[in-house]
Parts: sequence; structure tokens; C-alpha cells
Amino acid sequence: MRREPANELLLSFGCESQSGAQRFKERNCENIMAANHSFTGSDDTADEAVRSTCDDATVCKRFAVSMNYWKDPYIQYFIKQPNERKAPEINRGYYARVKAVNILMDAFIKKTSCNCQVINLGAGLDTTFWRLKDQNLLPKKYFEIDFPMIVLRKIHLIKTKPPLSKPIIETHSSSSLLIDGCSMDSDRYTIIGQDLRDLPVLMERLKKFGLNTKLPTLLLAECVLVYITPEKSAELIKWASSTFNTTMFINYEQVNMTDRFGQVMIENLQRRQCNLAGVDICQTLETQKDRFLLNGWDHANTMDMMTVYNSLPQADIQRIEHLEFLDEKELLQQLLQHYCICWATKDSGDFGIRDIMFGNI
Ligand SMILES: C[S@@+](CC[C@H](N)C(=O)[O-])C[C@H]1O[C@@H](n2cnc3c(N)ncnc32)[C@H](O)[C@@H]1O
Repeated sequence: MRREPANELLLSFGCESQSGAQRFKERNCENIMAANHSFTGSDDTADEAVRSTCDDATVCKRFAVSMNYWKDPYIQYFIKQPNERKAPEINRGYYARVKAVNILMDAFIKKTSCNCQVINLGAGLDTTFWRLKDQNLLPKKYFEIDFPMIVLRKIHLIKTKPPLSKPIIETHSSSSLLIDGCSMDSDRYTIIGQDLRDLPVLMERLKKFGLNTKLPTLLLAECVLVYITPEKSAELIKWASSTFNTTMFINYEQVNMTDRFGQVMIENLQRRQCNLAGVDICQTLETQKDRFLLNGWDHANTMDMMTVYNSLPQADIQRIEHLEFLDEKELLQQLLQHYCICWATKDSGDFGIRDIMFGNI
């Protein structure tokens, strides 16, 4: 029997609630918001609700890390331990999301022997740069893009927490980091405060901070494109395929959104003024894949997260399944069937990135 999704679970799982915006204000960040207002030019309620999803994702990841689903010694510096527990379904969902993205990303970096770039679109408070540094998998340059307000907050945390700043300084040739308005640039890590919907300015700023169009380049969008209209995400995807010769795009987001379960997810979010502007692409695995194939990519693969979960290394799956008792197996299955990972490739340099696949890595 199909079940109606529980509101709280849906909100915690993918994304988003207004409580994120509330928490942001409570942290006395109004000054940053004010400073930023003129910069973004799009500081409306809808964008604020989208920005708040950054905290929601980090809170859920933080809780799962505290439960030992995976290790991340850096996330504690970005968000305090959440007060409430997250349901086992949520923790397992985040585990699958993080593992899947890491597996594909690491495979790309290894295929190119780290002689590559990574561009994390809508990176939020993501900690991947620090993980890659610890695992000797750092690309030539790691770029992050998010709204200026999020980036200002992240730069502040990096500057004030030595465990975050030290790895950046260690990989930088000069003793000072370039901090320019809503951006910070170093030899290996750059963070840019920029609306992804303004592609000409984004391109200009990436160029300014040393984007090398000749290097194999991995783009990552983890729960981001769903907040951008299909036209704008197509522009971004087309720009990437026409700019880089060897490239992979990893996109994680909702799928199967036309069924009852998906509709309830959309309604819950709309009630919180969080509009999924890109949801039309989230109808099926095919619509997800076609977005890439119609915009210049040679190959594209998609899997729903239930299939991914079953393809992840089973010894570790057994370990995490022993961490907490899961009562609602059916709910986990439904949640995982409403998210997918899509990875598209273009490999003019013949690095073998087309072969990247779960189960054979
Ligand atoms: C659900 S969060 C995911 C954050 C991160 N990718 C992760 O998985 O932990 C979505 C992120 O996308 C960012 N975002 C959404 N639309 C954006 C836009 N038009 N320009 C820049 N960032 C955007 C939000 O600010 C937020 O940080």
C-alpha cells in the first residue's frame, strides 16, 4: 500500500523549511543580509527560502555524522549539533546521497590523476574540499558557488576556525588569501558568491579566479538545479558541455514527482514559500537524462536512489543498517525512489570517464 509522505520527513530529507531562514536570523547575521541586499538584486522571499535549504542539508548531514553513518571531521565547524534527532530514514537517505556523490567524484578525480578542476554549484556549507585534501585527492582547483549571503557566512567560518583555514593556507603559495567582496580565492580553493542564474557574470568571475577551460572539469549540483527554472539550468548545462572537452556533471535531486507522493512533497514546500522552479525536469529518470543529452553531453546515466542504495558497497550498508532500528522500511523505499543521481559525460580527451558506474568502481 502506498503511503502519504510524512511532512516532517519530507522536509528534512531533501531540503527545506523556513526554520532554516529563522535560524540564520537568530545567529545575528542581519548585517550580512543588509550588506548583501544590493549585491544579489534578487533578495526576495523565494530566494530566502531557497537559501534556507543550505542549513537544512547541513543540519541533517551533521546529525548523520554524529550517528556515525560516515566520517566528516569538518562539518562540526559549520553547524552546531542539531537539537532534534533525525529519523533513521533521513539518516540513511543522506548516507546514500553523500556516498553516491563521493564515489562518482572520486572516480573522476582518479581517472584524471587529480589533474582536473571541480566546480561545486550551490555548494552551501559542503565540506568536500577538506575531505579531498585529507585523502590526497585534491584537484588542481576546487571552486564553490552559492548565493553571496551563504558565501559570506562560509568565508567568516573558514577565517575564524583554524581547522578549516589551515588546509587552504597549506595549499596556497602566499601568506594571505584574496578576499574580495563576496569571494575568497586561493591557489587550490575558491569560493564565489554569485547567483547561478546569471551565467554571463558567473563565467566572468570563474575566469577572473583562474578557471582553466583546458582542464578536465567535474561539475556537481547536489539538490540545487530543482530551485532553478529548466531554461536557466539548461543554459548552465549547455555552457559546461560547450566549454570543457573532458567533463562530467553530477546532478542529485528529486525524481518521480508527478505521483501522489511527489505532489505532497511539492505542496509541503510551496506552503513554506519554497518553490521548486525546476520540478518539471524531475518527472522521470528519462527527463533528467534528456536534459543533458539535449544540451551537448555525449552520454548520461541516471539511477533512482533506491537502486543506488542497493549498488553501494554492501559491507558498509550492513554496518549502517545496524546503527539504528528502522521501523518504516516502506517509507525509506518511497523516499529513495523520489530522488535520483544523474551523471553525464563528454570525454574528448579519452580519460575513460564514460565507464564510471556504481558497482565497477
Ligand atoms: C539544498 S541546499 C544544498 C547545499 C549543498 N549542495 C549540499 O548538498 O549540502 C541548496 C543550495 O543551493 C543554493 N542555490 C540555490 N539556488 C541558487 C542560485 N540561483 N544561485 C546560487 N546558489 C543557489 C542554495 O543557496 C543552497 O545553498
